[in-house]
Order: sequence, then structure tokens, then C-alpha cells
Amino acid sequence: MSGNSVPDGAHLLITGGAGFIGSQLVRDLLARRDGTRITVLDKLTYAGNRANLEAVEADVEQAARFAFVRGDIADAAAVAPLVADADAVVNVAAETHVDRSILDPEAFLRTGVIGVHVLLEAVRRETDRARAGDRASAPRLLQVSTDEVYGSVETGRSVETDALAPRSPYAAAKAAGELLVRAYQVTYGLDAVITRGSNTYGPHQHPEKLIPLFVTNALAGEQLPMYGDGMQIRDWLHVADHAAAIDFVLRNGEAGEAYNVAGGTELPNRDVIRRLLAAAGRDWSLVRTVPDRPGHDRRYAMDGSKLAALGWRPRVSFDEGLPATVAWYRDHGAWVDQARTADWDVYYARQYADRLANGRIVDDSTTGAGVESGASPHAAGVDGTR
Ligand code: NAD
Ligand code: DAU
Repeated sequence: MSGNSVPDGAHLLITGGAGFIGSQLVRDLLARRDGTRITVLDKLTYAGNRANLEAVEADVEQAARFAFVRGDIADAAAVAPLVADADAVVNVAAETHVDRSILDPEAFLRTGVIGVHVLLEAVRRETDRARAGDRASAPRLLQVSTDEVYGSVETGRSVETDALAPRSPYAAAKAAGELLVRAYQVTYGLDAVITRGSNTYGPHQHPEKLIPLFVTNALAGEQLPMYGDGMQIRDWLHVADHAAAIDFVLRNGEAGEAYNVAGGTELPNRDVIRRLLAAAGRDWSLVRTVPDRPGHDRRYAMDGSKLAALGWRPRVSFDEGLPATVAWYRDHGAWVDQARTADWDVYYARQYADRLANGRIVDDSTTGAGVESGASPHAAGVDGTR
């Protein structure tokens, strides 16, 4: 079954819709004014923020097509009626920060494994009801996953049929969630699709992640804790492109398939840091090399040709998106302050106090001291070559 099951004007249940990528998806879908209705189910963890949905709630026409429910995807009683009322479910909800998964893995498993299972059971029930003629059609489920399920990719680029080899508790929970989705699709015939997005950046991202952490610290004149030699490679994808790809796969993806959503901008962290410092009007003297993340994945790189063949490509270049992101954080100090409530001070001290105490000033040469084997930035096809 292909994505024709999700017409314009459908009622979508979007879990995790108060977070970074989920709220972008909600804002973009409702701004089309095509009749789409959206219910967000979000637990509002430290990473969820109602302020991310203010634009929707302040617009009378959009607000009429929008509902917000605070709740947990692992709570079957909360999930069942929402799935029963939805034409499609987009599961964006997750615990998402690798460093937190290393400190405290349990919440990652509860949401990423049990939560996904609860959603799948609800979709399975509704699929059975559709087969019995009790509802018009079965709900499609889109599971938002990540390139981290492939593990560290030393050479080449991951394709969708590669084995999953997660290496952090976060990535393992995401892989487990995906495998459950695939098992339910095969066993019970659910209409389910999976996206695997690369490192996403842009406005509204919690300032625990590399780009917003370093941008906000740089703007405040604070130290930037670069893990290890800073030559780890990530493939950067603008949040508007990630949200667009999720919507595209929801409508055009084949049931049972997974789709890489590659950003096409593979860069070592040092290059990202150098560029964001330039955009923030700061220099490298703020950077400290600090003890590395345990099990740190050296490189992520995906082949995006499967989604390209369906007709989707990212649109926002890193050269355009990064300075705009820096400007957004400069202009949204109140949003940043709000994001840094909850457990922020405790988390920051736990994650960085010892690291920064052991931090060292490093020069800003591309290779830097202590570069590990064969990690030339150019080996990865910097800036979009695939
Ligand atoms: P985020 O941390 O900004 O937001 C996650 C949202 O999920 C928050 O609003 C939070 O309150 C909510 N949530 C968490 N647990 C929940 C639960 N049990 N029930 C209901 N809501 C819950 O995350 P993000 O960066 O927007 O990532 C969204 C999705 O995209 C995740 O599934 C993540 O694995 C995936 N992803 C993220 C990236 C990235 O670079 N940010 C890249 C690829 C894939
Ligand atoms: O690849 C997709 C994934 O990208 C998503 O699935 C995750 O939800 C998202 O958090 C992100 O994971 P990463 O671990 O790649 O992102 P993070 O921003 O934590 O780190 C990016 C790189 O920067 C990584 O090599 C670690 C490094 N880093 C990060 C932080 C927070 C530092 O050097 N210092 C830091 O303080």
C-alpha cells in the first residue's frame, strides 16, 4: 500500500510534536491551510516546549485544526482513543540526546521501546477494525528513526538494507523501536514506514545538542567543550528539510520500507565549530578539547538515493541554514533561558564540569593534535558530494 492512504485534510496524530523536529512538522503542515487536522501527543519532557507551537495556537484558522494532549506514548489508555481518531500516526517522540542516554539509559528504553510497542498495538487494533469494516481505512504509522541505527560508518555510505549496528543506548533504543515496527508490519500487515534522518539543526533545537550548545555558549562568551579531536563527521540536515521528508514519506513511502533522509553536508565537527564561530562573531579561543564521549561514533554517512528516486531532496544549504540558525538563537534569548530550566544546571554540571576542568586549548588547524586514523574531512565528500 502506498501513501495515498494519507490525503490532504487528514487527521494526523503527531507524537513528540512539542519538540524540535515535531513542532517544525506541525507548524509547516498547518501553515499549508489544506484542511489537515493535527493532534499532538507530547509528554513535555525537559525537551518538549509548548512555546514551539505558539505560532499555531496564535493563528485562529490553524488553532481550529489543532489539539494538544499532554501524555506519554507508553500510556496505552491515553494512546488508544487518539489513534482511533487518527488517519495516520507520526511517531516523532523519543528521548534524543546521546550524552543523556549514556548517563541514564532507562527513559530511552521506556519511550523508544515500550512507547513504540504501545503505539503499534493501538495501530494494530485500528487496522483490525478497518478490516472488520468498523472504520474506513487502517491508520498509516510513520516511525521517525535516525542514521545512528547504522552505527559508526568508517567508509562508504549506509544504504537502507545495511544491518543495524547501534553503539549507544540512544541508538540501540531507536533500532529496537524500528525493529518492532518492521515486525508488526510483517506479522500483522500494518501500514508502516520508517525514516532515518541525519543530524538535524535549525531553530527551536534544545541547547544540549552540538550546534545550539556551541552557538549559545559562544554568544555568551563561554567555553565550547569539543569532544576529543573534533574530527568526528556528521551529515547536517536542516530541520525544515527533515520535516518535509517525513511528510513526503508519509504520503509517498511504500509500506514496510525504510528511507534514509540524508542532509548531504558531511563535515567534521571542527569545521562546524569554525563556521558557527564565524557566524556568531567569535573566535576559536573559546574552544576546549575535553575528554571524549564514551563509544563516540566516528562518522555517520547515508546514501540518500532511495528517497531521491521517489522525488525528494533537501533544499536548505548549510551555508544558508547555519548563519540563519545562529541569528535565531541570538534573537531568542528568552526561548533559550526557558529551555535551560528543568534540570539544565544539574545536567550541565554532570556532563561538563569535570570535562571542562580537564579541557585543553587547541589550535584550529583542520587536522589538529591527536587526529585519529584516516579521518580527513575531505574523505567524506564535504559539502554535499555523494
Ligand atoms: P526533541 O528531544 O527535541 O523532542 C522530543 C519530543 O518528544 C519532546 O517534545 C518530548 O517532550 C517528547 N517526548 C519524549 N518522550 C515522550 C513520551 N514518552 N511520550 C510523548 N512525548 C514524548 O527531539 P528531536 O530532535 O525533535 O527528535 C525527534 C525525533 O527525530 C526523535 O525520534 C529522534 O530520534 C529523531 N531524530 C532526530 C535527529 C536530530 O538530529 N535531532 C536526527 C534524526 C532523527
Ligand atoms: O545523527 C542523528 C542524531 O543526531 C539524532 O538521532 C540524535 O537525536 C541527535 O542528538 C544527534 O546525535 P549526535 O550525537 O550526532 O548529536 P550531538 O549534537 O550530541 O553531537 C554532534 C557531534 O558533536 C558529535 O560528534 C558529538 C560532538 N559534541 C557534542 C556535544 C553536545 C561535542 O564535541 N561536544 C558537545 O558538547
